[in-house]
Amino acid sequence: MAPYALRADLIDPPASAGATCPTLSLVSRSPDWVAPGLTRKTAAFLADRPQTPCLVVDLDVVEDNYRQLRTALPEAAVYYAVKANPAAPLVARLIALGGRFDTASLPEIDLCLGLGADPGHLSYGNTIKKARDIAAAHARGVDLFAFDAEEELRKIADNAPGSRVFCRILTDNTGAEWPLSRKFGCSPAMARDLMRLAGRLGLDPVGLSFHVGSQQTDPTQWHHALETCAGLFRDLRADGLSPSLVNLGGGLPTQYGRPVPEVGIYAEGIRAAVDRLFDGEAPRLAIEPGRGLVGNAGVLETEVVLVSRKDAGEERRWVYLDAGRFNGLAETEGEAIRYPITTDRDDDGAGTGPVVLAGPTCDSVDVLYDKAGIRLPLSLTAGDRLRLLSTGAYTTTYASVGFNGFAPLEAHYL
Ligand SMILES: Cc1ncc(COP(=O)(O)O)c(C=O)c1O
Repeated sequence: MAPYALRADLIDPPASAGATCPTLSLVSRSPDWVAPGLTRKTAAFLADRPQTPCLVVDLDVVEDNYRQLRTALPEAAVYYAVKANPAAPLVARLIALGGRFDTASLPEIDLCLGLGADPGHLSYGNTIKKARDIAAAHARGVDLFAFDAEEELRKIADNAPGSRVFCRILTDNTGAEWPLSRKFGCSPAMARDLMRLAGRLGLDPVGLSFHVGSQQTDPTQWHHALETCAGLFRDLRADGLSPSLVNLGGGLPTQYGRPVPEVGIYAEGIRAAVDRLFDGEAPRLAIEPGRGLVGNAGVLETEVVLVSRKDAGEERRWVYLDAGRFNGLAETEGEAIRYPITTDRDDDGAGTGPVVLAGPTCDSVDVLYDKAGIRLPLSLTAGDRLRLLSTGAYTTTYASVGFNGFAPLEAHYL
């Protein structure tokens, strides 16, 4: 099997945003890539050997991703999915750029508001909310809420009267490396009924949303969901409603080991589908990127704690790191998300051999990659450093508070 260690030809540094988006006033800070997945700023920070494990995020990469998306799809309002990485410096940078925010909970709402976000720029996008949290969000000025069930809709009507609401529809998550299953959304038929009910409850049923699955590597997946939305828009208009918003959800991928289409391909596909499907009455668009905005901005620096074999005759080594499934690397579940890996010893000429990569806790599920066919340098030994690239999304907040006594993942924002 091909080595999984990072190959330069597998990861292209993102192109600069070039002319930048005309709606932004800040001067673009294009990241300076010195190696695949590594910027000059991050490399300089890591050269000082910070304590491990730690995540280092270059905010210029986030800004560059944001600008690229705004340039590629200027017709869509960008609501950053805060759950991907809720670090204050990151959220503050996006506020400065004019970003909006998809929030999952009251603490995420308070985080954004505390940093100066306009409540009118927040969407409470979780379809599962407590009545008192809806009321608290509404009291803070938030007036855009997601729902996918009658009970949720009635909670919103009671606790955030008159608010704008959008219904999340079920979508097929084919092509997604981190699918979201049937947990969220409802059938189109149910969405039609609920949107009508929303109107009767005094809410403003502004539109529909969907999520095609996270790390969606197939840009055509948005077409299918948009087709459903277009059909529903026709039905709702026939019902006397005036839906105007399609929320394209998350799903934009980041660059892990395998190349993914660039954001412009997704944008072109979405634009073509909207033009073709909505009979000249183009909806307003929103998009909620998480991983696609912050994934490739992060590098997770770890230390090798132990290299061992289960039998002297076995070729495959076990490499245990000081970071694992419980301190940031939860998305290695099922080996679904495969972070590119580099080590201190990649260039020492000693060759590579197969490994199982595992975390430091005494839990047997704390194994990162067993079947992924990872090969690491034969010279690797305790004390060496190992980097997992593209770890800016869904890492810090997944870390346990202290499983086996290991602290949550430290993070540095540059
Ligand atoms: C409602 C909603 N929007 C956006 C996102 C972000 O998705 P992604 O990180 O795939 O862009 C999520 C992720 O779970 C989500 O639940």
